[in-house]
Amino acid sequence: MTVIVTGGAGFIGSNFIFYMLKKYPSYRIICLDKLTYAGNLSTLAPVMDSANFRFVKADICDREAVYKLFEEEHPETVVNFAAESHVDRSIENPGIFLQTNIMGTSVLMDACLRYGIKRFHQVSTDEVYGDLPLDRPDLLFTEETSLHTSSPYSSSKAAADLLVLAYHRTYGLPVSISRCSNNYGPYHFPEKLIPLMIVNALADKPLPVYGKGENVRDWLYVEDHCKAIDLIIHKGREGEVYNIGGHNEMRNIDIVKLICKELGKSENLITYVSDRKGHDMRYAIDPTKIHGELGWLPETRFKDGVKKTVKWYLDNRAWWEPIISGEYKNYYERMYKNR
Ligand code: NAD
Ligand code: TYD
Repeated sequence: MTVIVTGGAGFIGSNFIFYMLKKYPSYRIICLDKLTYAGNLSTLAPVMDSANFRFVKADICDREAVYKLFEEEHPETVVNFAAESHVDRSIENPGIFLQTNIMGTSVLMDACLRYGIKRFHQVSTDEVYGDLPLDRPDLLFTEETSLHTSSPYSSSKAAADLLVLAYHRTYGLPVSISRCSNNYGPYHFPEKLIPLMIVNALADKPLPVYGKGENVRDWLYVEDHCKAIDLIIHKGREGEVYNIGGHNEMRNIDIVKLICKELGKSENLITYVSDRKGHDMRYAIDPTKIHGELGWLPETRFKDGVKKTVKWYLDNRAWWEPIISGEYKNYYERMYKNR
């Protein structure tokens, strides 16, 4: 089986490539990635020379390049991770989110229609459901929850989801969609909460907590997400949406304190900064469907996953130090200077 993994030089896509190459040594895995600021070829170095792996630098919006790759590789499956993925950047500059997340997804699906495919899988997010109130812990996102987005990022992901379902209904494209909660683990770009707090704490720099730090996210270890996608592309039903999450809701402030504790750093580093515009309060996934239909359950408990993640950042400075010394510095200045 040949699988095209788009966005495989990013956080979750790279973890998925490692997982698939290990689990299915007979599969051919092709990574298609534009290598934006969030994509790192160094992440894929361990598999770059594998006989059943190929890396192609291309933009999913580039129809000619995408069609050429389909002609060369005849993939049976496409898993689309490629996206602009950071809410804060989408608030700063929505245009590129619409281009990559919506138009890019449609180009990939056009290629699937033209050359034939067994499954197009869209990696989506729980953020398409908007947010839940803090005082209603009984409420969870199910696949039936209506789409109600807050940021340009989540809106672009929701638009892509609708387009994927439209290609299924209108053209019969065999699609599936997964909507996962917040991931954490190795190779997470240090602009997101957990890796940012780890690298700042290691440098004794301020730990910028938005608002009061009371916002809640539902955290899942990245490998558990990869396992869920593996199940969906092999056994999930066509045209279906599957929510992925492990009932692990945490307040941001509690995560930051936990990271301080793991690293033996003082909580005095915590600095409250002005809130994100339109900041979603709480995300919480109901994973009943994927558990019932496909038997998926998360395997890594949060306290173990955080320990593993902190250790990974301690052991892999060579991966993240170059990242935070480049263009990232300008980004950080822009985002955090006047808050
Ligand atoms: P990421 O930002 O770490 O990686 C995105 C990758 O896509 C990068 O390698 C980048 O170079 C590539 N890319 C961006 N634009 C491209 C384009 N036009 N053409 C080709 N490649 C392009 O993102 P991530 O955190 O790994 O997220 C992957 C997917 O999972 C996204 O679709 C995101 O919406 C979804 N998701 C993420 C989370 C999370 O917690 N990180 C949770 C749920 C869903
Ligand atoms: P983030 O990792 O950007 O993921 P998302 O917005 O997609 O959930 O942020 C997770 C939470 O952490 C979110 O509520 C915003 C908050 N946050 C901070 O408090 N400080 C920070 O520096 C960052 C990056 C995020």
